[in-house]
Amino acid sequence: MANKTALVIGATGLVGEETLKQLLDSAQYDRVIALTRRPLDIKHAKLENAVVDFDKPEQYSKIKVDDVYCAMGTTIGKAGSQAAFKRVDYEIPMQVAKQALANGAAQFILVSSMGADAKSLVFYSRTKGELEQALSQLKYKTVLIFRPSILLGNRKEHRTGEAVGRFVAEKLSFLFAGPLAKYRGTPADLLAKAMIKEAGKNVSGVHIIENGEIFEIAEK
Ligand SMILES: NC(=O)c1ccc[n+]([C@@H]2O[C@H](COP(=O)([O-])OP(=O)(O)OC[C@H]3O[C@@H](n4cnc5c(N)ncnc54)[C@H](OP(=O)(O)O)[C@@H]3O)[C@@H](O)[C@H]2O)c1
Repeated sequence: MANKTALVIGATGLVGEETLKQLLDSAQYDRVIALTRRPLDIKHAKLENAVVDFDKPEQYSKIKVDDVYCAMGTTIGKAGSQAAFKRVDYEIPMQVAKQALANGAAQFILVSSMGADAKSLVFYSRTKGELEQALSQLKYKTVLIFRPSILLGNRKEHRTGEAVGRFVAEKLSFLFAGPLAKYRGTPADLLAKAMIKEAGKNVSGVHIIENGEIFEIAEK
């Protein structure tokens, strides 16, 4: 056993759920903490589920972990406003990142997005880029930023906009051959695998892992 603890935020989502499952199966960690706003329905000897109100940081200020996995996020439609979106896709992750760092965390592993760019004119991509930048400036030993394309997997909720992209990514996958391969849809399980594998390498510094590399890491 590695005697390491992982923290996951966004553990009830498509990528987060898969990440949590794989973390529990991984020999890299002997303890996994999931910080959620509603109780998880899974039980595991390694798992601790801390149910918190993310607007009350004092509820999660004492958590001591080695590696933080962030798969938290929403959509502007679901959040209702740009400010509410930014709260979930920037402010809460930063709050967790700062508190975990203050308690000794070494690695932060972020699910960002293809096209993330702090200078983008598109609010979504700009927010993702701003989070990447802000996290990179914290004094983590390692920041791993994963930039997937459209996520593939069994999403419980229906999202019309994404459904079109997913149809193209899944049914017309032959379009994403050769130089276009780097744009193909990213299966959530493969992304989780790549994140945990990369975190196990214990590299230092800030590393951006683009969509194409996610496949290379996971499939190696
Ligand atoms: N969808 C795509 O195709 C795509 C593509 C590229 C990148 N991404 C990014 O990848 C990440 C993971 O995406 P995903 O599709 O796996 O996400 P998801 O299924 O929508 O899950 C989002 C997670 O964030 C949590 N969350 C949302 N709003 C919250 C709030 N106000 N307070 C606390 N927790 C909250 C959810 O908790 P609850 O279950 O409690 O709501 C859930 O655990 C996101 O950052 C997303 O932007 C997505």
